[in-house]
Amino acid sequence: MILKYRKGSPIKTDSTVLNIEISENIDILNKVLRDNTLTFEVNNNSFVYGLGGSNRGINKMGYTYTSYCSDDPVHTEDKTSLYAAQNFFVLKDEEKVFGMFIDSPVKITYDVGFTEIDKFTINIESDDYDIYYITGKNINEIVKEFRSLIGRSYIPPRWAFGYGQSRWGYFNETDIRKVFDNYRKNNIGLDMIYLDIDYMEEFKDFTINEERFPNFEKFVKEIQDENVRLIPIIDAGVKIEKGYDVYEEGVEKGYFCKDVDGKPFVGAVWPGLVHFPDFLNSKAREWFGQKYKFLIDKGIEGFWNDMNEPAIFFTERGIKKMFSKVEEYRNRENIGVYDLWDMKNSFMDMDNAQEDYDSIYHDLDGEIINHNKVHNLYGYNMTRSAGEEIEKLSPEKRMLLFSRSSFIGMHRYGGIWTGDNHSWWSHILLSIQQMTGLNMCGFMYIGSDLGGFSGNCSEDMMMRWLQFATFTPLMRNHSAIGTREQELYQYKNIDDFRNIVDIRYRLIPYIYSEYMKAVLNNEMYFKPLSFEYDDAISTRIEDQLLIGNEIMIAPIYRPNQNGRVVYLPEEMKLIKFKDGDVIKEEILEKGHHYITTELNEFAIFIRKDKKIPYGKIAKNESEIDYENISFLGYENTSYLYYNDNGITREISEKYIISI
Ligand code: GLC
Repeated sequence: MILKYRKGSPIKTDSTVLNIEISENIDILNKVLRDNTLTFEVNNNSFVYGLGGSNRGINKMGYTYTSYCSDDPVHTEDKTSLYAAQNFFVLKDEEKVFGMFIDSPVKITYDVGFTEIDKFTINIESDDYDIYYITGKNINEIVKEFRSLIGRSYIPPRWAFGYGQSRWGYFNETDIRKVFDNYRKNNIGLDMIYLDIDYMEEFKDFTINEERFPNFEKFVKEIQDENVRLIPIIDAGVKIEKGYDVYEEGVEKGYFCKDVDGKPFVGAVWPGLVHFPDFLNSKAREWFGQKYKFLIDKGIEGFWNDMNEPAIFFTERGIKKMFSKVEEYRNRENIGVYDLWDMKNSFMDMDNAQEDYDSIYHDLDGEIINHNKVHNLYGYNMTRSAGEEIEKLSPEKRMLLFSRSSFIGMHRYGGIWTGDNHSWWSHILLSIQQMTGLNMCGFMYIGSDLGGFSGNCSEDMMMRWLQFATFTPLMRNHSAIGTREQELYQYKNIDDFRNIVDIRYRLIPYIYSEYMKAVLNNEMYFKPLSFEYDDAISTRIEDQLLIGNEIMIAPIYRPNQNGRVVYLPEEMKLIKFKDGDVIKEEILEKGHHYITTELNEFAIFIRKDKKIPYGKIAKNESEIDYENISFLGYENTSYLYYNDNGITREISEKYIISI
């Protein structure tokens, strides 16, 4: 059951799709809501799940999280805000279980037993918001109910479940061709190569650098003929440059965000000085979304939307402040430590500065509103703009689309990646933990930069990361310019990498089937063990996941391991992969086991009396033979197998068969 509470006159977020009547009296809210703060009692047996891909563990207890979309590329343990803001959680303890969605795009802080160990406090920085209170028999029911409230999640083309290679720093056609050739030469599966900002002319959206890509359209086609897609990036900031059509049109039509004087707001991102399209305005959304046509007409079938928190590297205000600080101290004698810090901070605090966000204004179809009231809707609406218009441009064929920043509601238009992580072992674990909260909030086509974006990825880290990413719908190896090259062929044991990617392709019939069933039935593809098993150990496990209804995984996320302790909440069948195939199958009893997996091996566990489809090796999604599949797991059982043509927007469920 869903109850809706309203305070004041909230801004329309379009996060939900169901029309729920407002209840005047919701018992629980009467008790816990005071002055825009909700306070719940918690204890060591409380579990708070959700909040999208926020930092830290699956159970959010013990830390604070702030919903405020932030471009922060250093995801250390102490960070409270990452790129997204997703305000749905479930609280479960010995007495109760319920879900709550706070539908408001302002800053919201969740202090989950951190400041006070027995209090979970939520502070909403607004007098205008909706709160949905969701009940059900158990967490899965609550999530399902919530997901029906927010509408069906995005469905990518099936080829987007293949392996993708990306890197900031593939400068030209030759670099991209090298990647393609190396994957082919080494016989490693590949479906996508991503184009980062380097393909554009001076980082201008919807342009191609013709020196670097002299015949872009022909090149796109040539690669596409090999069933590999080029997926370009689109950034939120539009370069200020006379004669550049996107800039000129945006200014003329008044489609950019404004400053306090009503002039287009000026910030700086990759292209230098930019204006930001006002994605909160429906006409601006339509206008910008139609711009994707430029690339679609060149044969492009997918995009990734970036820098849409929006990220602001600096503004004139920040620069001025910095210089005036330097001036202030220039002639001062005895500069003290605090002075130095003060001066240093004027440099360090320049990007994504609150003062800059404070001075942005949006035109919400007639109503002028300060950015802070809608901050968390910006990235969502950039991707909505793309999603809605791309659908008009390509009404039949699905397109790939994912974003960095997000808010609930965006899940209907695209997937997300979890932003600029690091080549740190702890970020394999973080990625594992982020997946379940994202699924709860409707984000299904998800993944992290495989191998880590910043920093250098060693061979064993890449191997272990790849083993986990075998199960993420978005499986994209991406890294930053200047870091160690981490394409799979850059390492010594290329055969081992090939073999893992082979397993991904063999599992796509299962991954796609489970993905689609989860989307169509408002269920989760990634689940914590505690959503299915309620024994004392399962509820505390933070590093094992359920994938669909049949598989449990226990990824390795530490260096120098040859296995790990795995907890089986019930009898399961161990399937161990090596050399692109199964090397061991064994039924294991419920309980703890040390499962040996050398660097080039990995294991999955099939839940009792279940089986999964397992295809033949393919090097590209188009090569997968969906008709001739075998099964792994228990015998004398059935599997509900979903498949469709993988490409049309119209979804037919008639392909669900029990085999
Ligand atoms: C941002 C993105 C990253 C991209 C880089 C350059 O940091 O998050 O993925 O490679 O910008 O475009």
